[in-house]
Amino acid sequence: MGTHNSYETEIKKINFDLIDHNKIEQLQQNEIIKKGAQLLQQGEIVAFPTETVYGLGADAGSARAVQKIFKAKGRPQDNPLIVHIGDKKMLKYITREKIPGSARKLMDAFWPGPLTLIFSRNDIISTRTTAGLNTVAVRMPAHPVALALIKLSQLPVAAPSANSSGYPSPTRAEHVYDDLNTKIPLIIDGGACEVGVESTVIKLEKNKPVILRPGGITREQISRILNREVVNDNQVKKDQTPASPGMKYRHYSPATPLKIITGKITENKIRDISKQAKNIILVVTEETKNHLKQNKKGQLLPRLDIVTMGSLNDLKQIAHNIFSIIRELDKKEFDLIIVEAVPENGLGEAIMNRLYKAAVNT
Ligand code: TXA
Ligand code: MG
Repeated sequence: MGTHNSYETEIKKINFDLIDHNKIEQLQQNEIIKKGAQLLQQGEIVAFPTETVYGLGADAGSARAVQKIFKAKGRPQDNPLIVHIGDKKMLKYITREKIPGSARKLMDAFWPGPLTLIFSRNDIISTRTTAGLNTVAVRMPAHPVALALIKLSQLPVAAPSANSSGYPSPTRAEHVYDDLNTKIPLIIDGGACEVGVESTVIKLEKNKPVILRPGGITREQISRILNREVVNDNQVKKDQTPASPGMKYRHYSPATPLKIITGKITENKIRDISKQAKNIILVVTEETKNHLKQNKKGQLLPRLDIVTMGSLNDLKQIAHNIFSIIRELDKKEFDLIIVEAVPENGLGEAIMNRLYKAAVNT
């Protein structure tokens, strides 16, 4: 470990097939989990896989530890962090209120998993974690490595996505390394994250469910469990404090300009949005790619580089791939990335939310 502001970042590959987070003695025998848990207990930061994206964790009760997350990511101080817990018992220690029935239902249905709920904060959670708010965002992740770290350290773990602030979220250990090399001591490499987009953040205001950030659990899934309509409030209205402070910043943006194309893809549409860009890459669904291959007309389309993000019939696949594709293309010499829009239902809501933000300012 380095001194002052620099670390020698270690990447440790972990085989998590056999990890059982309920067996503490077993976790103590796992050198990587032990190292990660020790770092957390010492007030250090650790990057680890979750089922959504990689997280950068620290002891949520320690202002000093959490401050290191903000520093490593370059994250604005007023953007609060999600606290990760290992079991529902932990919820009692970090929240104040009696848990409403609707929240219970959602936890029973979707935990462990990609759903984050907002509760009132107990003093055990640092105000640095919640960016001064009296509420705390909580989720129980479904990845064995994340659960093992929480269980062995016995800490509530504050963890934002493990990327540089503003850049696309990391779904592989290499993405974390690209952004945070020398800024953190350890990356636990558990391969590619399954879901690929972050958790859904939901607030239950007087039992009225409002989605603050669409994510891995869809609005339809939540609506079915609560047996009522669920609104999506992730659009930042002007002159209004956003309910989820993180939503107001530049987010998920690659260095290469990114634009979204909606509806049928035509030569004219591409010409319209690409302006002076010469070196264009088109990211489309499998269905669109097949269609374009069959229609090799025109000057531009037949010569364009095309990448597929997955099938329209499988939005899970597209969610899984999207950040990874954008990061990969950003390393190449393109001067414009054009991404095809997908329908905004199911996981499409989360996918399009990320794409719209990635396309801001371009
Ligand atoms: O899937 C995920 O949620 C990943 C993995 C690592 O668990 N984490 C993640 O954290 O996406 P982050 O920091 O990148 O996004 C947290 C979001 C932000 O939009 C933030 O503003 C919101 O949750 N948030 C956190 N605490 C909040 C609170 N008390 N009230 C409202 N929104 C909150
Ligand atoms: Mg993030």
